[in-house]
Amino acid sequence: MNVPVDEAQFISILLKIMNAKKTLEIGVFTGYSLLATALALPPEGKVIGIDMDREAYETGLPFIQKAGVEHKVNFMQGDALLVLNDLIDEKHEESFDYVFVDADKESYIKYHEMVLKLVKKGGTIAYDNTLWFGSVAMAEDDEMEDSVRHSRKYVIEFNTYIANDTRIESTIVSIGDGVTLCRRI
Ligand SMILES: C[S@@+](CC[C@H](N)C(=O)[O-])C[C@H]1O[C@@H](n2cnc3c(N)ncnc32)[C@H](O)[C@@H]1O
Repeated sequence: MNVPVDEAQFISILLKIMNAKKTLEIGVFTGYSLLATALALPPEGKVIGIDMDREAYETGLPFIQKAGVEHKVNFMQGDALLVLNDLIDEKHEESFDYVFVDADKESYIKYHEMVLKLVKKGGTIAYDNTLWFGSVAMAEDDEMEDSVRHSRKYVIEFNTYIANDTRIESTIVSIGDGVTLCRRI
């Protein structure tokens, strides 16, 4: 479930070009993209990682420790929508330079609405898997696995939503499974 290596490198260079310091990741799993993010941040940089699965995070934690970047990471266990609500309540509004969203596709539109409150003007939001194995460009009656078909409709709905959202500028980068980059206006 981790992002591929070229996508991790892409995220890394993006964070360095942006000079991002305060960042957020929704969907950590074993922490590969989280580690790539922590390594790309300056010494005072921070990444909050949200996932409901602490066991997966703890599986990858030794690698974060070995890389010497654990002090930059704040893992928050829980349902992402609830944790995002807490972050909004705790006055983190308009404070993040960068947010990476890589959790359940069903909730991407809800994440977008919440994350827009948390990211600074001019900040970046990156959404993973927005090409969804290429299925977003396929016809409804084309052959595809059930698991692909299941989330395809949510990803198409999300892509349409983003394309019509005048609060951001966006582009889909054809790397990995597709990454939509948004800049908050
Ligand atoms: C694709 S994996 C993340 C991979 C990670 N970004 C990487 O590339 O290394 C998706 C993760 O999202 C988490 N997730 C899915 N729905 C969630 C939710 N509603 N709240 C919190 N975490 C969720 C899953 O537990 C899973 O670990």
